[in-house]
Formats: sequence, C-alpha cells, structure tokens
Amino acid sequence: MKNKSLVSINDFTREEHIHILDLAEEFEKKPTQKILQDYVVATLFFEPSTRTRLSFESAASRLGAKVIGFSEPGSTSVQKGESLRDTIRTVSNYSDIIVMRHPKEGSARFASEVSDVPIINAGDGANQHPTQTLLDMYSIRKTQGTLDNLNIAFVGDLKYGRTVHSLVMALSNYNTTFHLVSPQLLKLPSATKMHIKEKNLTYYQYTDIIDVIPKVDILYMTRIQKERFSDPIEYEKVKNSYILRNSMLETAKPNMRILHPLPRVNEITVDVDDNPKAYYFTQALNGVYVRQALLASILGVK
Ligand code: CP
Repeated sequence: MKNKSLVSINDFTREEHIHILDLAEEFEKKPTQKILQDYVVATLFFEPSTRTRLSFESAASRLGAKVIGFSEPGSTSVQKGESLRDTIRTVSNYSDIIVMRHPKEGSARFASEVSDVPIINAGDGANQHPTQTLLDMYSIRKTQGTLDNLNIAFVGDLKYGRTVHSLVMALSNYNTTFHLVSPQLLKLPSATKMHIKEKNLTYYQYTDIIDVIPKVDILYMTRIQKERFSDPIEYEKVKNSYILRNSMLETAKPNMRILHPLPRVNEITVDVDDNPKAYYFTQALNGVYVRQALLASILGVK
C-alpha cells in the first residue's frame, strides 16, 4: 500500500483493510513511536471537522511527523480564487502525504490525479469517508471479536451519510446482514445497495428503529446531514426522525454496541452515554490508532 491514495474504501483490498486493523492494534498498545520524524503530513480541510482532522494530527504527532495545513480555507489563497488543482499541486511540493476533506463529491479522486503525493480522502461531500470506515471496522472487530456474519443496523440519514456508504461497501465482504432504518426520503442510494446485492447478501428496510434493536450486534446511528439538503423544508420534515433513548435498549442483545461516527445532534440522548452498550467515544479514540496505521503504511514505514 506504499504511496497508494485512499479515496474510496475499495481502493484497498480486503487484505489491506485487515493489515490496517492489525497494525492499528499495535499502535493501540504503543501509540508513541517516532517513526515518521522525516515526514510532513498536510491536512487540508475545506469543510468543518473535529475528530477526523484532530485525530489525524494527533496520529501524525505521536509518530513524530510535522503537520501543516488549514481548517479554514477562507484564510488561504482559495479565497482569492485559486483552483483545487493548483492548491493540491502546491501543497504536494510541501508535504509527503495530503489528508483532504472537501464538500464536493469526486474532489478527492480529482486531487489524487493531480497530486505528486498520496491523497487520503477525509470525506468528499456525501460520497465516502474511508478512514472512518476503517476505524468503524476496527471498533466492530474489537467489540464483537469478528467482522463475519454480523447483523448490523444503519439508522438515520442513509442517503447523504458518507460514513454509511463506505462502511456498507466494506462490510459487504463479510457476509453481513444489513438492517437499514431511515425515513423514505433518506433511503440508502441504489448504487450503494448494489454492493450488497452483488455479494448476494440480505438487507431489510425499516422506518421504525424499535423493530431492529433486539436483532442486531451493532446499532450504527447517524446524524441527519443538514448541510447536504438543498431544501430546508425537507430537512425540517426529517430532522427528528430517530431519537435513541436509554429506555429503548432493554431488548438489545447483551453484547450489542452502539456506534456513531459523531458529531451527534439529538439522535442519541445523553442518558445513553453511561450505558455500557454506548461505544461512540471509544470509537472516536480508535480513530487515532487506525490513522497512525494508515499514515505509516502509505508512507512505507510499516
Ligand atoms: N466522524 C467525523 O468525520 O467527524 P468530524 O466531522 O468531526 O471529523
């Protein structure tokens, strides 16, 4: 995987996914290792982020790399009208790897085509978020002991949720049974469902979250992605579709775990946070180890 860009989760093979998860386990045991002292990591965030940017920067810092970049494109020459092509070509002269988040679908692929250094897609519009997928897989394997033959529910915005799109693609390699819970307006796109169908896997569709809670090993909650709606009235119709409360978890399997890529708005009430089934903050921590594994592998150091 040395020098490979990660734009779609399918840019890496199933074996490469597992290599990243195994390496992340090593970093979890020993997070501080100065193996990237000779490298510069650029983080270019054209869209807001807390976890992805800071966990990448934490991962790079713990490995001894220097970090450059921006989180406010308004303070850069983008503000003067510089194109994405010129920004990427310039930053690829200053760094060894670029982590980029951008609101436009396809922007990360475009960046990988014009960059002299590998690009890691940290989210491109409603399309994909492959590094989130790897940390989700790490979290699932860690809590369930396996990735195979699990029942996994995806709840909320399955249309615009990029973390859902990449994770469904990746889990289609593991004989997953998918439980898809969404309002009619926010169903999983047909192109993503195709990945399930191509592997002859089963998926069920629901509008009520209560129906899936007793059935699943992982309850993957998502935020309704307000920023992707072109019509604010449509957002108002669906914004409170699902609110998970602690009292709703009594029928869950003992080892069921609740994941959420975060940030949350109101779709999980805070009384769930103290339930041992709530795993979303540890999931965010796992992002550091997985991103350490990605940086080290793509830079060819591990
Ligand atoms: N999960 C995730 O992408 O979070 P941020 O938007 O805070 O990076």
